[in-house]
Amino acid sequence: AIERTLSIIKPDAVAKNVIGQIYSRFETAGLKIIAARMTHLSRAEAEGFYAVHRERPFFKDLVEFMISGPVIIQALEGENAIAKHRDLMGATDPKKAEKGTIRADFADSIDANAVHGSDAAETAAVEIAYFFPTLNVYSR
Ligand code: CMP
Repeated sequence: AIERTLSIIKPDAVAKNVIGQIYSRFETAGLKIIAARMTHLSRAEAEGFYAVHRERPFFKDLVEFMISGPVIIQALEGENAIAKHRDLMGATDPKKAEKGTIRADFADSIDANAVHGSDAAETAAVEIAYFFPTLNVYSR
């Protein structure tokens, strides 16, 4: 089915100047960018976005990292977009990510892991709505 997913190019990958290389992988895989913006997240925005992880031991470091520099946020659309995007990203921990995935190629650690992607349809809808009002999403 045609799905949408939320993708974030994190501060480490923006700093490495690989935005275009990552976008190219999305496009090659048939994922269409239907919304996009660059922003430097506030602490409140980052905490709100990762609210499900609030009780996890890594929450504070995660938020600090996500506000350490600008990010690029996009909504992607395509056949099986959520799983396809996760396949392109590779495992959360780049040491465990398969060769040729975004995290294997561009990430340094489980915190500085280059990209974020929604993990399921319900979270994708919530995450897209968190960053993009409907009028800023351009499907087809
Ligand atoms: P992301 O997909 O953005 O979702 C939550 C982030 O927390 C994850 O990528 C990692 O960058 C970070 N993180 C740090 N430690 C862990 C961990 N032990 N398990 C999962 N995520 C972690």
